[in-house]
Amino acid sequence: MAARDLEALKKQYNKYGAPTMGPGGPGRGGPAARARAMGGGKPKKTGNVIKRLMGYLGRHRGKLIVAILLVVIRSVSQIAGSYMLRPIINDYIAVGKLEGFLYALLLLLGIYLISVVAEYFQRKSMLLISRSSIEDIRNDLFIKVQKLPVRFYDSNSKGEIMSRFSNDVDNIGMMLDTSITSVILGAISLVGTLAMMIYTNIWLSLVTVAFIPVFIKGSGIIGKFSSKYYKQQQASLGAINGYIEETVTGQKVVKAFSHEADCEEEFALLNNDLREKQMKAQFFGGVMGPVMGNLSQVCYAITTGVGGVLALLRGFDIGGLTVFANYSKQFSQPINEISMQMSTVFSALAGAERVFDIIDKDPEAENRENAICDVEIRGDVVFKNVTFGYNPDKVVLKDLSLWAHAGQKIAFVGSTGAGKTTITNLLNRFYDIDSGKITIDGVDLFDYDREFLRKNIAMVLQDTHLFSGTVMENIRYGRLDATDEEVIAAAKVASAHSFIMRLENGYDTVIRGDGANLSQGQRQLLNIARAALSHAPILVLDEATSSVDTRTEKHIERGMDRLMENRTTFVIAHRLSTVRNANAIMVLEHGEIIERGTHEELLELGGRYYELYTGQRELD
Ligand SMILES: Nc1ncnc2c1ncn2[C@@H]1O[C@H](COP(=O)(O)OP(=O)(O)OP(=O)(O)O)[C@@H](O)[C@H]1O
Ligand SMILES: [Mg+2]
Repeated sequence: MAARDLEALKKQYNKYGAPTMGPGGPGRGGPAARARAMGGGKPKKTGNVIKRLMGYLGRHRGKLIVAILLVVIRSVSQIAGSYMLRPIINDYIAVGKLEGFLYALLLLLGIYLISVVAEYFQRKSMLLISRSSIEDIRNDLFIKVQKLPVRFYDSNSKGEIMSRFSNDVDNIGMMLDTSITSVILGAISLVGTLAMMIYTNIWLSLVTVAFIPVFIKGSGIIGKFSSKYYKQQQASLGAINGYIEETVTGQKVVKAFSHEADCEEEFALLNNDLREKQMKAQFFGGVMGPVMGNLSQVCYAITTGVGGVLALLRGFDIGGLTVFANYSKQFSQPINEISMQMSTVFSALAGAERVFDIIDKDPEAENRENAICDVEIRGDVVFKNVTFGYNPDKVVLKDLSLWAHAGQKIAFVGSTGAGKTTITNLLNRFYDIDSGKITIDGVDLFDYDREFLRKNIAMVLQDTHLFSGTVMENIRYGRLDATDEEVIAAAKVASAHSFIMRLENGYDTVIRGDGANLSQGQRQLLNIARAALSHAPILVLDEATSSVDTRTEKHIERGMDRLMENRTTFVIAHRLSTVRNANAIMVLEHGEIIERGTHEELLELGGRYYELYTGQRELD
């Protein structure tokens, strides 16, 4: 396989718009979820991003005010300390007053001491504020990620999403830790120093003031470039993280097909791109400091030069000149410091934009007002003329109608990609239908509270998933208040008990890496046990036993039959022997039900089901 070109690669790992999340879906008219799920992602103004960050800081207003006060004390004492040199030189050193000189020195010491103490507490409080703000941001991000629709996860790389939690949030943290203080301190020092300069000598101050537009223009130009490159850098970082995540999780497939070399090549492409972006970003971020530093040196040289001339010709006092020269240095210091922080600030702003991008995404559509959440569901399910497509341009389910009375077992069979899983996705509102109607007990699905609805549907998904934790905890995920005995009973129903008992620590065996230490069939059994534990009146089994041997499958069936007695069950299976006893079997083809009936009726019909069933028997 030739290495795909970089842009295609980046598109795959990076872009929100691609590949399945087109630019919103007007037209199809269905419930707003589709269009909403794709919302967000608008480029934000840097000013907006800063405002929102300030909003997070603002939550700790009290502490922030204290910290700012401490910063003010710090900078005022520094400015005052510097000014003390003037009277010390003019009134004591120049005229040889030792006693007064010593007092003045003590006073100076006191002032600097205040500055040091203020700095200590200010750093501490600023750290508290910044880390609490980061905690809030991370929380908000996680809460939003929990609320995003399934569509979001189906169309974004996990690594890219995770990159926002790690790199992007870290960058914001770094800025809040130090840069904010520097900027506030810098701004106060700048204004304070300028005021003192004007007070010391108005003419000399004019020289410095003349330089201010140069500083502003210079930093503006560099800033514009930097922020562009920092955004690119963060996006590139997200892309590479997405790629790493994908190759790490898919490493077995990579190895099985000997694609290591291709992976290395593709990775090198992304890595090279990241290096380029990082170099540009760091260069422009880093160039700010030296450029501003040199500008301020020039400013310093000119001011002291002019000051010297003033001292020689206009009788400007030496103490004043010393103090002014000192201020001139101090004036450039905050500019230097602020510009040194710029690389941190730019990467943080780029990170913040990406974090807010997710926080601003629309969550799953709101429940209707007065959504139903306190009725007893019997399990009468009706699909009426349901049409649905994941993308506006491709219909997956066409005008589909079916019904299941409470307690019935309905089976879906049909070829791969026919739309079986899609039906279950609609039932628990992972996706919302485009047109038609789905009702449970005669009530429109949209009238139920979504969480309540999902609680009433126990699902064994086609893709099994186990969390890090013990076997017991994993099964209990089906119903958190279940006792150990109930968990074990559910495991027995799912025929999982015997293999669990053979595990190293039985029910306390810790599962890691999505159950990597278990066989595929064992993973399925645990997922079935999880659903069996739930008291939900509707049960969905999507290829729940596809990896389980036929003998165990029979066992499970017997156990499940008892469980299913009063529940409406939807079973999807390729192995047709498992659906023989269903009340109705729906044969799906290209999103349409082409045959329906009981096993016997369908065999008699001699159509697609007959072909599938007898074909399979021949294969058996
Ligand atoms: N998240 C998705 N985004 C876009 N298209 C999807 C998505 N999931 C499924 N599809 C498409 O919808 C169609 C039906 O898929 P579905 O998963 O319902 O098939 P299925 O009948 O369950 O197949 P299988 O027997 O292989 O599980 C397929 O053509 C598939 O390409
Ligand atoms: Mg499926």
